[in-house]
Amino acid sequence: MSQPEFNAPPKYSSLEEVLSAIRGMKNDPLANAGTNIVISRGNSQAKLLIIGEAPGTQENIQGKPFVGPAGQLLDKILQAANFNPEKDVYITNSVFRMPPGDDGKAFRKPTDQEIEYYRPYVFEIMRLIDPLVILLTGNVACQSVLKKSGITTLRGKWTQLDGHWLMPIFHPSYLLRNPSREPYSPKSLMWDDIREVRRKYDDLLANSV
Ligand code: URA
Repeated sequence: MSQPEFNAPPKYSSLEEVLSAIRGMKNDPLANAGTNIVISRGNSQAKLLIIGEAPGTQENIQGKPFVGPAGQLLDKILQAANFNPEKDVYITNSVFRMPPGDDGKAFRKPTDQEIEYYRPYVFEIMRLIDPLVILLTGNVACQSVLKKSGITTLRGKWTQLDGHWLMPIFHPSYLLRNPSREPYSPKSLMWDDIREVRRKYDDLLANSV
C-alpha cells in the first residue's frame, strides 16, 4: 500500500479547527473502517490529557473514546486517584476510527502506517489542549507520541515533550486480562503509577500561574 498523503497544514489555531480538519481528513487509511469517527471526550480545559490506542466496538457505536469495558476501568482508576473523568481529563486516541478486525475479531491494532497518518493530528490536539500532564496508555500511544514501544520498561517513567510532562502507563485492556492484585502485578504497578501522576499533577498545578 502506498503511503497516505498528509494534507493537513501543520498548525491549527483552535481545537475546533483541528477537530473539524479530522472530520474532513483526505486519504485517511481508515476511511472505510468503523461506522463513526471517534475523536475525544472530556473537558477541553483539562490539565490531564490521556491518549489511548483506537476505538473499539462500543466507542464506534457511541462515537466517544473509552466508553466500553476498558474505558469503564480507566474511569475507575482515575476516580481512585481523585480525578473526575468528565471535569479533570480530556481523552483521545492514536487513531480515530476502529481498525477492522480479522480472524473473526471485532477489531485489530492500528498498523504503523495508520499511526503515522494520524500522528500530526494527535500532536495538534496535545498542543491545543496544552495540559500539564499527558498519559499514554499502552504501546500504540507510545509509538504514536514517543516513536517507541516497550510499555513494560517505559511505564511509570516521566519524560518531557514540548513543555508537557508525559508518562506511559499500562493500557486498561491489559489490566482486564491480568486481574491479579499481587505485588508487582500490572494492576498494582498501575496503582503506583496513578498515585505518582496525582502527586506530579498537584505539584505542577500548585506551581502554575
Ligand atoms: N481502547 C482504546 O485505546 N481506546 C478506546 O477508545 C477504547 C479502547
